[in-house]
Amino acid sequence: MTTYRIAPSILSADFARLGEEVQRVVDAGADMIHFDVMDNHYVPNLTIGPMVCQAIRPLVQVPIDVHLMVKPVDRIIPDFAKAGANIISFHPEASEHIDRSLQLIHDNGCKAGLVFNPATPLDYLLHVMDKIDLVLIMSVNPGFGGQSFIPHALKKIEAARQLIDQSGRDIMLEVDGGVHIDNIADIARAGADTFVSGSAIFGHADYRTIISDMRRQLAS
Ligand code: DX5
Ligand code: ZN
Repeated sequence: MTTYRIAPSILSADFARLGEEVQRVVDAGADMIHFDVMDNHYVPNLTIGPMVCQAIRPLVQVPIDVHLMVKPVDRIIPDFAKAGANIISFHPEASEHIDRSLQLIHDNGCKAGLVFNPATPLDYLLHVMDKIDLVLIMSVNPGFGGQSFIPHALKKIEAARQLIDQSGRDIMLEVDGGVHIDNIADIARAGADTFVSGSAIFGHADYRTIISDMRRQLAS
C-alpha cells in the first residue's frame, strides 16, 4: 500500500507568525514542511533562507523538505544541511554539475531530490537514478503560490512513476503547484505519493479539516 505524505508549503503561511503556523499545520497532520527557497534570479521572487530554516527546526519533528529555486545551487547546500533540512531538492537547469550537487547533498547528510519544471524533460534522471531519493514534478512554473495546476503534469507524473518503478529504488514522487482537494486523487492515481500544497491548506480556515479531507480523497 502506498504511503501518502502531505507537505504544506509555508510560502502561503502568514510570515508574521511563521513559527505558530508551522506548529499548527504539523499538529493538524502535516507529514513534512515544504520550504520554498527563491532567489530573485533563477525565479522572479525572493523568499526565505537557511536562517529561517534554523529558526523553525526546533519547533517540529517532521522532515523539512527544502525546494531550492536558486542559482547557483551548491554553495547554499551545506548551509541548509546545518540549518536542519532533511531533504534538499534542486532544479537541474540551475546546477552546473548535477551529479556533484546530488553528491554534495548526500555528503551533508540529507536526502537529495531533482525538480522538473513543466517543460523540463525527465531525461535528466537517466544517469542519476541511483543517486536520488525524491523526484519533484512541478505542476506550475516555479516562483509563486496560488497558480493553477497544469493538466499536462499528470502525464509527466505517470512517466516518472514508471521510471521510479523500473529503478526498483525507494524514491518519493512529489508534486508541487495547484494541488487542492478536487485534483489530489487524480494526481495520486497518476502515481504521486507526496503532495505539496500551499494556498489550499494555508488559505483554509481549519488546517486539520483540509488535511483530513485531502487524506480522505487519497483513500477513495
Ligand atoms: C511554487 C512553489 C510551490 C508553491 C505551491 O514555486 O514551489 O511550493 O508554494 O503553492 P500552491 O499550492 O498555492 O500552488
Ligand atoms: Zn515548492
